[in-house]
Amino acid sequence: MTTALRPSHWTLRTKLVSSVLLLFIIIITAIGALTVWQLHNTLAGKIDQQLANSAQQLTGPGADRGDPLSYQGGGGDSLHVDLLAGTVVYVPDRQNGGTRPSALISRLGAAPTQLTPAQINAVRAAGIGREPSTIDLARAGDYRVVAVQHSAHLQNQATGITSEQTITTVIGLPLRDTEATVRTAALAVALLSGAGLILVGLATAYLVRRNLEPLRRVAETATRVSNLPLSAGEVVMHERVDPADTDERTEVGQVGLALNQMLDNVDGALTARQESETRVRQFVADASHELRTPLASIRGYAELSRREREPVPTGVQHAMSRIESESDRMTALVEDLLLLARLDSGRPLEREPVDVTLLAMETMSDAHAAGPDHRWKLDLPDEPMEVVGDEARIRQVLINLLANARRHTPAGTEVTTRVAADGGDVVVSVSDDGPGIEPDLLPHIFERFTRGDSARTRTEGSTGLGLSIVHAVVTAHGGELTVQSAPGSTCFTMRMRRSSQETPAPMPSVAP
Ligand SMILES: Nc1ncnc2c1ncn2[C@@H]1O[C@H](COP(=O)(O)OP(=O)(O)OP(=O)(O)O)[C@@H](O)[C@H]1O
Ligand SMILES: [Mg+2]
Repeated sequence: MTTALRPSHWTLRTKLVSSVLLLFIIIITAIGALTVWQLHNTLAGKIDQQLANSAQQLTGPGADRGDPLSYQGGGGDSLHVDLLAGTVVYVPDRQNGGTRPSALISRLGAAPTQLTPAQINAVRAAGIGREPSTIDLARAGDYRVVAVQHSAHLQNQATGITSEQTITTVIGLPLRDTEATVRTAALAVALLSGAGLILVGLATAYLVRRNLEPLRRVAETATRVSNLPLSAGEVVMHERVDPADTDERTEVGQVGLALNQMLDNVDGALTARQESETRVRQFVADASHELRTPLASIRGYAELSRREREPVPTGVQHAMSRIESESDRMTALVEDLLLLARLDSGRPLEREPVDVTLLAMETMSDAHAAGPDHRWKLDLPDEPMEVVGDEARIRQVLINLLANARRHTPAGTEVTTRVAADGGDVVVSVSDDGPGIEPDLLPHIFERFTRGDSARTRTEGSTGLGLSIVHAVVTAHGGELTVQSAPGSTCFTMRMRRSSQETPAPMPSVAP
């Protein structure tokens, strides 16, 4: 049996309908069989009673044996066979002064029919007794018969002498009518049962479908909710089960109500999460913004004190230069944090045509100047590649990627920047043949403050925010950023929609 055919895999609807039908079939079969059996018994009892009455006429005190044998049978055919010592005999028909075969089927209102020798043999072979039994009289059909012993006056046809002898008369009544009645009744019961089965099947299917409809709607709501993007960003969850399907008095209503309560709960939790996320973002943005001014002052005063003409002790000079460099680093960090907080809050970006080819050339030349020990290569298309976006941010993406390729690889590494068109997209990739990103780090590379051990120990000023900014900027432009890295080959690929002459689609404001 395949899995789908197993009842445990059936839908609730199929299970309910087939259970009801099975129950109906069992009940209707039992009732039908009982009715037909009872009808058969009643009719057979009636025939047996008629046979007993007829036997009484032959043997009873008032039996007039001088008259032709007759008895009160039911309508239809009746069987009358006289047997003498087991032989079918002809008895004189005293009414007409002749003889007639006594083995005959007499019909009310019609001439009697002579039994065939085969039928007479069947009567004799059946061993009929005083209790009614059923025999098959070949073409004449089934008969209910009894044997009655009684005395009768028989005339010897040779001598003409009449004597009283004991003979056995088999009297019988046809079962044909009874059988026909029972058959008709059985057919009627079967037809009615069949019609009832179809009706019950259709009605059950309709009722079950109608009653399970609310459950389907509840399931639909649950499916819609499960497809909502709930993991990040501002989530508005308006989906609820219709109030009509939340009636506590019904089982389906209880499911609907429970789902609605769960959705209320989840909605509340999501709103709280969203609010707390917004507060944290706001705090980071405010804090970074506030830090800018004192940092600018520190840098300013450090620079001022460097310009001081009075001789300054070497230790103080060193301390002042450290203050200056660290405050530079902190300024960069604060700027990065501020930028990330702004991108997170989904603040709209500038929307202007940006020539990525030109940006690649400029940033490459800066990187070359900053890292003359690396080998820098540029692979540009013949035509300019434009995207719509914020030039400063896209420039920063390239700067960050190139800075990484310079700072996290040894001298002599070859770094290639490639700009190409791919369908309606512009694909910019920065690849290097350096040692690659540590495998543990790779899945989390775009998360904030993720940096490799080498960057922690060796590289000055590494914060682990560079790639999260790259990712946030590309995503905010509706683009896609991917990374592939193995020892000897690391490649960051950025894919953005190429700007066309048509009005560009509105920029999505994405908060990661
Ligand atoms: N081209 C590369 N080759 C090898 N490792 C890299 C490369 N680019 C990035 N990494 C690894 O990924 C980490 C994260 O890079 P990310 O730019 O986010 O931070 P960072 O460079 O350490 O600091 P910063 O915020 O100053 O950029 C780096 O610390 C480094 O270990
Ligand atoms: Mg970096």
